[in-house]
Amino acid sequence: GLKIVAIGGGSSYTPELVEGFIKRYDHLPVRELWLVDIPEGKEKLNIVGNLAKRMVNKAGLPIRIHLTLDRQQALQGADFVITQFRVGGLRARALDEKIPLRYGVIGQETNGPGGLFKGLRTIPVILDICKEMETLCPDAWLINFTNPAGMVTEAILRYSPLTKVAGLCNIPVGMKMSVAQMLQVEPERIHIDFAGLNHMVFGLNVYLDGQNITGQIIDRIAQGDTSGIRAKNIIDLGWEKEFIKALGILPCPYHRYYFQTEKMLAEEQEQARKTGTRAEVVQKVEAELFEKYKDPKLAAKPPELEQRGGAYYSDAACNLIDSIYHDRKDIQTVNVKNQGAIASIPHDSAVEINCVITASGPKPIAIGDLPIPVRGLVQQIKSFERVAAEAAVTGNYHTALLAMTINPLVPSDSAAKKILDEMLKAHQKYLPQF
Ligand code: NAD
Ligand code: G6P
Ligand code: MN
Ligand code: MN
Repeated sequence: GLKIVAIGGGSSYTPELVEGFIKRYDHLPVRELWLVDIPEGKEKLNIVGNLAKRMVNKAGLPIRIHLTLDRQQALQGADFVITQFRVGGLRARALDEKIPLRYGVIGQETNGPGGLFKGLRTIPVILDICKEMETLCPDAWLINFTNPAGMVTEAILRYSPLTKVAGLCNIPVGMKMSVAQMLQVEPERIHIDFAGLNHMVFGLNVYLDGQNITGQIIDRIAQGDTSGIRAKNIIDLGWEKEFIKALGILPCPYHRYYFQTEKMLAEEQEQARKTGTRAEVVQKVEAELFEKYKDPKLAAKPPELEQRGGAYYSDAACNLIDSIYHDRKDIQTVNVKNQGAIASIPHDSAVEINCVITASGPKPIAIGDLPIPVRGLVQQIKSFERVAAEAAVTGNYHTALLAMTINPLVPSDSAAKKILDEMLKAHQKYLPQF
């Protein structure tokens, strides 16, 4: 049987992961699931952990659930390590979203200044985990969900000797499911060629039963049916019809921040006034969820979890683990070392791309290159992620300022410096390297 470790085990998403392992138990025999958290997360860990135990009992399966604050004990002999933690919690996320807004800049957890700071807080922790894995479970796969997943994967590839690493996001699988729903066909009949970076990924071609239907999908989007490219956590302001036609490929929901910056900023500012930023909305959803989770009669994932942005995240994780374990050689979209799959991105950088999933890991499928109109933006975000990762590792102020300034959502050097200084101060507690 397998030993699986989930770091950030107190996450409200954990019941979905548990459900994923229960569903697949007949071919994916999980012997132990270790949920790891930190002292601040102990209460959440207990509530989620007890729900997980009830779920497993109800299913009548011999999966042993362990709850611990001792990460090293958990990592000992692990087969798969799933990371899904949030350094500083939702309070830090709220600052990431609010501070940039004061300077007229997008406030978002994985894009712009917010993404930079989530990375600065997260990367030292993930590199510590990698270091522990080198000795405690050198053969294990690290499957990272922790955002910003692209920047985090980039940092691991550059600053850790671990090679069994994959970054995951629910957006590609979510787009595939939504396109299937839009066409009212089984998801297995849809295939999308995904390539780009995390939260900067494009659907280059869409196929139904092997027939290229990209043009048809583009027309549907242009006509106003954006259901195939939405996410719960991102406001849908439609797309400029003629732009979508000109683009000719599927943008992901996060592209709105780059191609609709003004409108998205105005919308964020209004939401911040009316309901609070996304982190504040999520705080309420989470509080309600945990009240439900406490109910000793509850032994399943409640439907309210669907209000969160991470739909299908456990399918992404469980399918990846399943295909590595069984050497299935199927195609999944994963953040891995590029190795030439996208010509204009460095060989040793992380990309989000379709891969063949084998027992020796995900093998990226070469696409040639991205279309010229989006190539530059993707390269720019890659440069941003690299400089940001370097800043996270070195704690160098000037490197952080460079990262902030070259981000396309930040308009100037002086705005960058002001936002950087304010955010460094606000997040000081979680930035020991600075
Ligand atoms: P959350 O706030 O519930 O955090 C999960 C747990 O992490 C908490 O219980 C917290 O105590 C714990 N934690 C904080 N610091 C830790 C540390 N140093 N070590 C171990 N545990 C720690 O967050 P969430 O909303 O469940 O999201 C978790 C993470 O997953 C976030 O980084 C989020 O951005 C990411 N996420 C990614 C995707 C994706 O598509 N890649 C989807 C959903 C969520
Ligand atoms: C999407 C993204 C995740 C992100 C989440 C936010 O699913 O792919 O990377 O963490 O949304 O959802 P939330 O409900 O926390 O706003
Ligand atoms: Mn994501
Ligand atoms: Mn800039």
